[in-house]
Amino acid sequence: MPAESAPGLTQALDLAFQALAGGVTDRRSPFHTPALATVARDGAPSLRTVILRAFDPATRRLRIHTDSRSPKTAELRAEPRAALLAYDPATHTQLRLAGRVTLHDCDAIAEDAWVTSRESSRMTYAAALAPGAPLPAPLAGPDDPQAGRIHFVAVVMTIDCLDWLLLDPAGHRRARFTWDETGAMRASWIAP
Ligand SMILES: Cc1cc2nc3c(=O)[nH]c(=O)nc-3n(C[C@H](O)[C@H](O)[C@H](O)COP(=O)(O)O)c2cc1C
Repeated sequence: MPAESAPGLTQALDLAFQALAGGVTDRRSPFHTPALATVARDGAPSLRTVILRAFDPATRRLRIHTDSRSPKTAELRAEPRAALLAYDPATHTQLRLAGRVTLHDCDAIAEDAWVTSRESSRMTYAAALAPGAPLPAPLAGPDDPQAGRIHFVAVVMTIDCLDWLLLDPAGHRRARFTWDETGAMRASWIAP
């Protein structure tokens, strides 16, 4: 990409936010299924794929859904710092996000997330056994999606660091954006 047409810092952030917004609406986007990193109780890193359910660029908040019985929920309760990672080979763009999460199981955020979820998604939370529980054989699916409400948790992450990397044969570009507790942003180019 010629230097004059390469994105500036403001455009890089716009592209990153557009990628996240697209990840919510486009099920084929790699940003629809980022990897969520948490810190396990013994301090080890812990990674898994999740679905990006919502993103608001104005507040830098994104939302994922999970099961209150899952190991990741316990990990986030103990250590609310988390990270998300996704790479889009079509646009050669990697996003690394870090932030803090809040967990919502019985407030308006949880209720709104639940009622706007598809029935097939709700079924996940109606399973009789907790995610990760040992099974002698694969379980048949539950038949009452509403039964999953008590296990449903909306995880809201506020991004406080966004690392944008664009792979480009003419020169890779990488920018880091950080926000302090007042919302003030710092943006800088960094070595790829
Ligand atoms: C494409 C895909 C999407 C997934 N989405 C979610 C999700 O949104 N929430 C979730 O809790 N688990 C999701 N999972 C399952 C997790 O990756 C993981 O296996 C499970 O939640 C248990 O994680 P844990 O033991 O770290 O809690 C998804 C898996 C795949 C392959």
